[in-house]
Amino acid sequence: MKWIDQFSLEKQVAIVTGAAGGLGSELVKILMEAGADVVLADSDEIRLNGLAQELDPSGQRLLAQKCDVTKERDILSLIDRAHQKFGKIDILVNSAGVLGPDAAWSNVLESDWDGVLDVNVKASWMAATHVSKYMITNHLAGRIINISSSLGLRSQLKRIPYATSKAAVEHLTRNLAMELIQHNIRVNCLAPGWINTNMVKSVLQGEEGEKWRASIPMRRAAEPSELAGPLLLLASHASSYMTGTILRVDGGYAYCGIELPE
Ligand SMILES: NC(=O)c1ccc[n+]([C@@H]2O[C@H](COP(=O)([O-])OP(=O)(O)OC[C@H]3O[C@@H](n4cnc5c(N)ncnc54)[C@H](O)[C@@H]3O)[C@@H](O)[C@H]2O)c1
Repeated sequence: MKWIDQFSLEKQVAIVTGAAGGLGSELVKILMEAGADVVLADSDEIRLNGLAQELDPSGQRLLAQKCDVTKERDILSLIDRAHQKFGKIDILVNSAGVLGPDAAWSNVLESDWDGVLDVNVKASWMAATHVSKYMITNHLAGRIINISSSLGLRSQLKRIPYATSKAAVEHLTRNLAMELIQHNIRVNCLAPGWINTNMVKSVLQGEEGEKWRASIPMRRAAEPSELAGPLLLLASHASSYMTGTILRVDGGYAYCGIELPE
């Protein structure tokens, strides 16, 4: 095998949660282009079906499944449907996420914590756990990719539950990696910074756009295609000696300091 072929995902099956999201949908496209069949999971059925129709109207290489990742029964039925359609699951990408409130410390509510930690942390653990059990039973050399953020490392004003949840996702990655490697399952984490999805574009084109751009060492957001290399590295056998890694794709944003209150 040529070394470049290690990046191929031909004959591989991936589940992507949060598949209908701005970033999630880009991750789906990258995995498909690399050859994988993909199971799209999201709670937003309308956007999910729209995306599946756009990417693969024949439905041969995609399966769209409505799924609330915080519900165990939804995760179990997602795994079941994926198995029925494609016969195996090699890759799980935990991309479902919520941002939570844009609120200073004193305005954060208990319900904000519950909402953010349930989706970003607990659901990532739950999907990873059930998919791993499936992979072990079926003797698959699986790969799990959690999605963190620069805020998993860097502090930012008014984002306490979100940033805390992403730090937890990074440590969840390391702990799962340690326990699962004996079963030949590798767990890594992609930590994007500013990626040019619609939401990020609107912030960078808004009133405070220049301030945000100036805080990124590369002085720009990434195009979604710039995630392709890092994602394929973690999703493929090209990363066969990597587990527990946090791969930052953020133009240096996570390392370049903090924003202080005025
Ligand atoms: N977009 C960025 O620039 C950026 C940067 C850093 C990290 N991230 C992270 O990447 C991941 C994806 O981001 P995105 O841009 O696609 O966000 P997004 O808000 O566009 O999409 C999130 C998706 O998750 C789905 N979702 C939310 N709760 C769910 C639940 N309980 N069950 C199933 N699906 C649920 C939503 O329906 C939505 O489609 C998130 O974890 C986010 O924190 C994004």
